[in-house]
Amino acid sequence: INTVIFESSEVASKAAAAEIATLIKKKQKANEMCVLGLATGSTPKRLYAELVRLHKEENLSFKNVIAFNLDEYYPMEPDAIQSYVRFMKELLFNHVDIEPGNYHIPDGTLEKKDIADYCKEYEAKIDALGGIDLQILGIGGNGHIGFNESGSLPNSKTRLVTLDHITRVAASKDFQGLYNTPKTAITLGIKQIMQAKQVILMAWGEGKSSIIKASVEGPITEQVPASYLQEHPNSVFILDNGSSSKLT
Ligand code: F6R
Repeated sequence: INTVIFESSEVASKAAAAEIATLIKKKQKANEMCVLGLATGSTPKRLYAELVRLHKEENLSFKNVIAFNLDEYYPMEPDAIQSYVRFMKELLFNHVDIEPGNYHIPDGTLEKKDIADYCKEYEAKIDALGGIDLQILGIGGNGHIGFNESGSLPNSKTRLVTLDHITRVAASKDFQGLYNTPKTAITLGIKQIMQAKQVILMAWGEGKSSIIKASVEGPITEQVPASYLQEHPNSVFILDNGSSSKLT
């Protein structure tokens, strides 16, 4: 895996935003849509702030962008504080000129019986566009990408998953405790993530250093789903001093 280490997450986020902007503009010149795979959580917040700045101050247009988010808690109402729909609108989509019909976030309000069909359609929409051009990822303390927890197989599809205890503990600060934290989520599968033409995984801080080491230097194993990216032909880990501190 290619790793690029920046002195701070701020500088790193700007570099990632610049990469996205370059791709969007390249696609604009070719009169093509740009299909982005997007993540939530604390890691990409500065990236989205920088994309909003590029839109407002440097005329970066999102008219040719189609976005698919990785995941959403299940169940989840779109206007709930913890909803990833709300997160994406408040941090990015409401502040740029993306067409409202052009962003997609898994629906946390479905009836359980409808989820499997919904997931198939979600993937079919991505496939119909020729796949994801650029996938942004964070990484969980257990190596999850999206909500593909330890044990997720390389061919796993978009689906309803049970969240690991460690993932729920990390999320519980947003849910006023573990008791209120969802037990399940809908996530894009490993297969679709691996089919993205380009992948940028970002990780900040010492707390991520062990799992970054395992993902980059350890064996490729379902225990650490991010380690699958070692086999991706065009992926980069964008790190700061903290998250890269255990790399040899
Ligand atoms: C979020 C997602 C997760 C997070 C990961 C890291 O859409 O897919 O894999 O990227 O849990 O979360 P943070 O950034 O909050 O440390």
